[in-house]
Amino acid sequence: MNYPVWQLEFLGGGFLIAVIAIIHVYIAQFAVGGGLFLVLTEHLGRRNNDPGIIDYVRRHTKFFLLLTMVFGALTGVGIWFTISLLNPSATSVLIHTFVFAWSTEWTFFVVEIVSLFIYYYTFDTLSERKHLIMGWIYFGAAWMSLFVINGIIDFMLTPGAWVENNNFWSGFFNPTFWPALFFRTFFSIMIAGLFGFLTASFLKDKKLRTTMLRYSAKWLLVPFVLFLAASWWYRASLPPHIEEIIFQKMPQLRPFITLFMACSPLLILGGLIMAIRMPSGLSRSMAAVMLLIGLMYFGAFEFLREGGRRPYIIYDYMYSNTILKKDLDQVAEAGVLQQAKWIEHKRITPDNLGAAGRELFNVLCLSCHSIGGPLNDIRQQVRMSSPEELNLIFATMGKERPYMPPFAGNEFEKQVLIKFLNTNIRR
Ligand code: HEC
Repeated sequence: MNYPVWQLEFLGGGFLIAVIAIIHVYIAQFAVGGGLFLVLTEHLGRRNNDPGIIDYVRRHTKFFLLLTMVFGALTGVGIWFTISLLNPSATSVLIHTFVFAWSTEWTFFVVEIVSLFIYYYTFDTLSERKHLIMGWIYFGAAWMSLFVINGIIDFMLTPGAWVENNNFWSGFFNPTFWPALFFRTFFSIMIAGLFGFLTASFLKDKKLRTTMLRYSAKWLLVPFVLFLAASWWYRASLPPHIEEIIFQKMPQLRPFITLFMACSPLLILGGLIMAIRMPSGLSRSMAAVMLLIGLMYFGAFEFLREGGRRPYIIYDYMYSNTILKKDLDQVAEAGVLQQAKWIEHKRITPDNLGAAGRELFNVLCLSCHSIGGPLNDIRQQVRMSSPEELNLIFATMGKERPYMPPFAGNEFEKQVLIKFLNTNIRR
């Protein structure tokens, strides 16, 4: 309402953010669990005095460094660009509420970057002990960065007492902070195993390859049980209305629940198969498939978490279309076009009905509905209901349809938007 936004039609409804964020978070979580993988595998190699394992760790570190520091960092900055263009209001709340958390986060990033570079470039020059300490420093900083970002991400889903008291700590240590932290920590360790499969499958020495593939399988399978327990805890700590939205009230989320359920046994099965001795070509393809399953698994979870936040972007505080919960009645009374700042058609006249309807749609609906795109396409939604039903849908937004905010315009704007949907969107 208060800022100009990037109005994406086809990639709207959160699609662009979802794609960038899921890829970024997958790699960012690898940056955490993968750090533990590096040091513990180096410990193993040093203890057994096995130059093969040490050499594997060195190669894996190069891959790890390039992937996390280049691709991870680029997509991370990409998220900031995307969210600040698509939802400046919510981005502003996150920045203002968590200034010190962000600066803490970025300090840990600097420690991560410096220690990982030292770790990679001093494999042969630093003493064993000091080199391992460097690895632990990297992992410590990486896990702390997860700790901090976890508070901010979960704040958006369950801000808890923050909504009333505006207290930093209430928002940070919000009701799902701890289960989400355990959930993400165990998952990051599993991802380390998935990426371990990939690099291990490229090893030329057959015996070493099998050893490292089996070793990586343990990284995937052992934390799995703990991960499932953390998922259960996470679900149990959701406020009942969020749990209900995710698991009952939103048919759109059902495929993601199914995907999440289906990927669990697939990952276990795949992990067991990876431990069987296989030709290198086959294990390479299997490793790639496993990484993809991991990505889908994680993507499904992120979709559910984001979906559960509906109709809000910051729960109980700001709706996805950036209208504050406390302002809703007043906006509806005065009219959206009057209140929103970046509007061309402040007054609706017989000549600008279509254009004004489009602006109403952009302000109130585009954040969740694409036009003709892959996510929550408004064309399909409108096609599925008759013009009369649309009236009913508008009347039940925010009530029987809890995944949408209540309609925030006045009666006249409602009629203009419905007309726009019936003439310009319904085809
Ligand atoms: C917070 C996100 C959000 C906003 C904002 C939003 N919608 Fe929706 N809308 C949804 C979701 C999610 C669904 C589909 C639920 C499902 O099928 O699982 C939906 C469904 C619909 C449907 C189909 C009927 C139904 O309930 O399934 C129509 C029509 C619709 N929206 C129109 C609009 C219009 C018009 C606006 C703007 C005034 C709007 N929506 C704003 C999220 C939103």
